[in-house]
Order: sequence, then structure tokens, then C-alpha cells
Amino acid sequence: MGNILSEKRILLGVCGSIACYKAADLASKLTQQGAIVSTVLTAAAQQFITPLTFQSVSGQRAFTDQDLWGSEGHIQHVGLGHQTDLIVIAPASANTIAKLAHGICDNLLTLACLAATCPILIAPAMDSGMYTHPATQANVESLRQRGVYVAGPAIGRMASGLSGLGRMLEPSEILGHIRLLLGRQEGKLRGRRLVVTAGGTWEPIDAVRAITNRSSGKQGFAIAQAAIDQGAEVTLIAAPTNLSTPVGAKRIDIHTAQEMLGAVLASVQEADALIMAAAVADYRPESPVKEKLSKDQGIPQIQLTLTPDILSAVAQLRTHSGFPRVVIGFAAESSDLIEHARQKLTRKKLDLIVANDITATDAGFGTDTNRVTLLDAMGNVQSYPLMSKDEVADLILQKLVVLLEAMA
Ligand code: CTP
Repeated sequence: MGNILSEKRILLGVCGSIACYKAADLASKLTQQGAIVSTVLTAAAQQFITPLTFQSVSGQRAFTDQDLWGSEGHIQHVGLGHQTDLIVIAPASANTIAKLAHGICDNLLTLACLAATCPILIAPAMDSGMYTHPATQANVESLRQRGVYVAGPAIGRMASGLSGLGRMLEPSEILGHIRLLLGRQEGKLRGRRLVVTAGGTWEPIDAVRAITNRSSGKQGFAIAQAAIDQGAEVTLIAAPTNLSTPVGAKRIDIHTAQEMLGAVLASVQEADALIMAAAVADYRPESPVKEKLSKDQGIPQIQLTLTPDILSAVAQLRTHSGFPRVVIGFAAESSDLIEHARQKLTRKKLDLIVANDITATDAGFGTDTNRVTLLDAMGNVQSYPLMSKDEVADLILQKLVVLLEAMA
């Protein structure tokens, strides 16, 4: 299925706002993800930034109103909106938002939007008083009603030094909204509900110490993002990690295996799939101490006890309710990879298991890459070369699409 932004033709509209400098970063990020980014700058935008900036980061043309009145103008004003998969206006000023809401088309950007057949996303950026003004609110609402996707704005510090609602979202967040929107348009998992777990659980010893493991959560978060790219509704159950939540995911933060069990059982009731990428602690201290243990109390004797096996509990639930329809597990092994993974596949009643050798230094815990073998319930075993965790996520979701189609 690949990266949702790859080869996507995006028209970036840039309006007059100090947030213009962030628009250049957005153009760069989109280009790095494989999108083909042309830009249209309004006259006001050119007071802040030049077309050359966008041309330089994207390698594509940056248009201005001069192109509208040039010899190609009659093609340009309609053509820009037609040859595009998505129009993104970031920053979107109060003035341009008002024009779009009322069908005013007195410059190349507003003309292109009026003639466009593709989806439009706007990222408003303006003074808080301007954004919350009833006129702007009515305009934004009217655009929303017509299917325009409104990303942000955020509450935060403005260039004026004041703080309020009107700050443009950060480029990385706008990128997340673009992925969410594109996924909803054409993703292969549209209408599907997925539950993904990620990270290593924390089993408290005392008020400040815990037993955990080296899982970074990266693989689970990559799966959540890839599922959103494919239009799925995603619940991400995350053990402690500082990774940022993919835009569109419903994130539930937990610490312990017991809390993860509760969150999983509550979330999978009507889910199409559960992907257990989390590294769940197998043991926990039997009686965690509420206060911080002190050396004065001597060396603690920590009695361990088993944590609940989440996948086994899910297997039981599934026998009664039929949900989740597909269950995918992981097997992090340090020896006899295939054999151990096969045993877990059967024991935990999985449809697919993703096995990886944790002794490799370039794959598994904490790295950005992974080398996996997939084993399914039909007995198929396939090993893959070293891949990025994003590629592994995409691979797992390709298999999920096939499994879900086979059930239809
Ligand atoms: N898992 C789970 N509940 C647990 C432990 C693990 O649901 N208490 C899930 C993991 O999220 C993973 C799969 O089971 O998807 C395999 O995890 P792993 O730690 O490799 O297996 P264990 O069941 O812990 O078996 P072993 O200790 O023998 O390796």
C-alpha cells in the first residue's frame, strides 16, 4: 500500500501571515514524504516570503497572481485545482477564509479553490480576536459544512506576544491532518476499527521505581499511523513513551499489564482487529509499596507474580462475541525464532504473528528498523529483509487487509 503521500499532487496555498515561514517547512516535509508540491502565494504572502523559497524546497513551481494575468492564466486558474489531489491552505488568513466562504475569487488561490474538485484543507492562522470574531466563526463553519477540513488553530503564543486561539498548527501536525484526510478518502481500511497496543508496560515496585523493558513503542505507533493513512479508526493503547500521538488516533495511556488488559477488553468489543505490538511485562511485584523505599529499610525482597496474559483473555472474549475479528501478535525472541513464534501463534489463537530476533543490533527494541518473519494460522511463513518500522507497519496492514477481505 505504501506511503499515502507518495506521488500525491498537493497544491499549497500560502496567505499573508507571519506563519508563512512554517509553510516552507510544511512544503519541505511533504516533499520529503514523496508528495509533489506546487505552491500558490497570495500578494500578502509575498510580503512575508518569496515564491523562490517554495520552489527551492519542493522543486516544483510556485505561482503568484502574475501567473493569473499571464498568457497561461486562462488554463492556470482552473487547471491548478483540477490537476491536484489535495489543496492545503496553510497559513489560511481571515481574509482568504472569508473569500472562500463567500465564493469570492479575485486572486489565483481563491480561483483555484472555487474551480477545484479535490478536497481542501485549511490551517487558520490569525490573531485570536480575529479568529473568534463571529464573522470568521461563521465563515469557518460555512466552509466546514461544505466539506472543507479545518485543521486547528491551536491556542498558544502569537507573534504579537499575546496568547490565544489562532496560532497555526505546527507543520508536523498539519502533516498528520493531511494523512488523516487522505486516508479517509482512499484508504484500504476505511470504516474499519483497529486497536493497537504499543510500548513496554510499567509494573511498579514503589512510588518511583518500576519493572519495565526496552520497548520504545515505535513499532506500535508506526502501525497506528499506517492504519490512519489507510482510513481506519484507531484506538492506540500506549504504555509510557514520549512518542507523539498520530493525528486522528484515540490514545489511551496505561502503565501496567492489568491496566492494558482493561483498556484492550473495553476497546475490542466491536473492533475489526487487535494488533498487540506492546511488550507486556510477564511479571510484576506482588505488593508494590505506596511510598518510596529507602535504603534504611534494607535490601528489598521483591516477590514477583504473573501478570494477566492479554492475548489469552482476548481469545476467550472472541470465542463468545466474535470480536475482534482478527488478532495479530508479536514475538520478540532471542533463540529458535520460528519455533517459539509458531507455538505462540497457536497458544494465543492468533491469525498472524510478527516474529523478530531481539539479539540483532539493527532491529527490534529502540531502533528505527526491524527484520521480521510473518507466520499465519494457515502455516505460511515468510521472512523479510531489514526494513524501516514504517515499512513493517505497512506490511502488517497489507496482511490485515487480506485477512479481513477473506472474512467478508
Ligand atoms: N502478551 C500479552 N500478555 C502478556 C504478555 C504478552 O498479550 N502478559 C502478548 C504480546 O503483546 C505479544 C505476544 O503476547 O503480542 C507475545 O509476547 P511475548 O512476550 O513474546 O510472549 P509471552 O507470552 O510473554 O511468552 P514467553 O514469556 O514465553 O516469551
